[in-house]
Amino acid sequence: MTLPKIDPTSTIAWKKLQEHFQSMKNVKMIDLFEKDSSRADKFTHQWEDFYVDFSKNRITDETLSLLVELAKEVKLKEAIDSYFSGDIINETEHRAVLHTALRASEKENIYANGKNIVPEIIEVKKKIEIFTNQIVSGSKKGFSGKAFTDVVNIGIGGSDLGPSMVVSSLEFYKNHLNTHFVSNIDGDHVNEILKKLNPETTLFVIVSKTFSTQETLTNANTIKDWFLQFAKQEDVSKHFVAVSTNIEKVKDFGIDQENIFPIWDWVGGRFSLWSAVGLSISLSIGFDNFSKLLLGANKMDAHFKSEAFDKNLPVVLALISVWYNNFYKTETEAIIPYSQYLNKFSAYLQQSIMESNGKSVDRNGHAITYQTGNVIWGTPGTNSQHAFFQLIHQGTKLIPADFIGFAESLHGNKEHQDKLISNFIAQTEALLKGKSKEDVLKELQGQNIALEEINRVLPYKVFEGNKPTNTIFIKRLTPESLGKLIALYEHKIFVQGVIWNIFSFDQFGVELGKQLAGNILEKIKNNTFSNLDASTSNLLHYYNKLT
Ligand code: F6P
Repeated sequence: MTLPKIDPTSTIAWKKLQEHFQSMKNVKMIDLFEKDSSRADKFTHQWEDFYVDFSKNRITDETLSLLVELAKEVKLKEAIDSYFSGDIINETEHRAVLHTALRASEKENIYANGKNIVPEIIEVKKKIEIFTNQIVSGSKKGFSGKAFTDVVNIGIGGSDLGPSMVVSSLEFYKNHLNTHFVSNIDGDHVNEILKKLNPETTLFVIVSKTFSTQETLTNANTIKDWFLQFAKQEDVSKHFVAVSTNIEKVKDFGIDQENIFPIWDWVGGRFSLWSAVGLSISLSIGFDNFSKLLLGANKMDAHFKSEAFDKNLPVVLALISVWYNNFYKTETEAIIPYSQYLNKFSAYLQQSIMESNGKSVDRNGHAITYQTGNVIWGTPGTNSQHAFFQLIHQGTKLIPADFIGFAESLHGNKEHQDKLISNFIAQTEALLKGKSKEDVLKELQGQNIALEEINRVLPYKVFEGNKPTNTIFIKRLTPESLGKLIALYEHKIFVQGVIWNIFSFDQFGVELGKQLAGNILEKIKNNTFSNLDASTSNLLHYYNKLT
């Protein structure tokens, strides 16, 4: 089975949603709350340790039921079944999409290309566990007999963003190992990290699904050359391990077979942190915590597979996002975690969401006439309140936002936590209610300000409100709850891809730039700048003059 190929705009539900939008476009959410005292409870789902409040959205019961109708008409249920059962749903690359198998129960049988893949998954997990324990305990040592103190993950895109986001998000749970991430081809990145390292006590994990990515191989070679200034060739095997599907290329690099952690072509790069790509996670927080991360994701998988659409967290969040994107024509979505630990979460989601759903050709090969993937952005609150919130509150653009918070502080600092959570809750309240002209007037009059001055500043102090938000309130940041949260967004991506009738699991859009960078590099090396457009040629001449 492949994914259904239904143009969403041809469905009956889409047409009904268009009509419904006409009656909703000027509706104030605050009036909806006033009219329906059950609204907040009705539009809040509690699942395990998650409290997801989506009542502060421009939706009614009718909106939700029409969106669910749309999901049914595009055959979302059938698509979910295909996704989990290893069908070749990544049709353009002829691959199954089975990152969910990496966190499935070991008792299940899951097939890719007719083969049960669970035994291989178990074997690689065992290898990760043994290796992690050897490094963390210090029983495996570096070339001079010292235990490892530092781990460097060398990778980019999905081979960097997922592991690096999880390692920082779970910093509270980390052990004594310092974990570093080298990703950028910018030599200053790798050199700044090398400055901090002792070659005798550093382990390098080269992560590249293809083992052909320019950035990763360049950084890996630079690091190997640096390492060999202090050690011998035979010491490489003690300090370098690799995670890849391309075993031959890894061996060519000089890494021993036993130091290779395999992954599979049914794991997409941006969904790979659950595989050996997450080795640096396991090294940083220990294998038990890594397993809890996987367990959390597995619980979200079970919820997504079985829950009715109107109570299904990834489905509901995806549908609301489609409502804004395709009917209100919003362009972006902000992700605001109220936790400094989740500092890298939005950047991580930028790849997983935008690389997946930034597509303009549908599953029938036709150019798309409606909007697909959103622009994703955001940084943690409260810092973002002092940066870009002005635009969300009073700008001209409508920006739906996800607020993600954790009720418990990991260090137990109640004073800070109460202040953090009061901001977390107050912002969604402010975005909902705004501040009317009458309220501003009353406030200014109480401040003994001259009438002329009041009239002058009044329009600038009014907040329109009616800005949509979802609140994802989680009890505590743990490996398990983080696993659930990541999987929630993974499945939201999937649902939106199904509705938009696109292929979410390829990324051909990143290829052209790579190809042209190769051509330009040749031109820089050969000092010949012909056959180029005038701007590109000027830039090369300018670079050549300066270097
Ligand atoms: O940026 C394109 C991409 O292919 C991503 O999808 C992937 O995560 C990244 O490059 C790294 O690829 P690899 O793991 O093969 O080095």
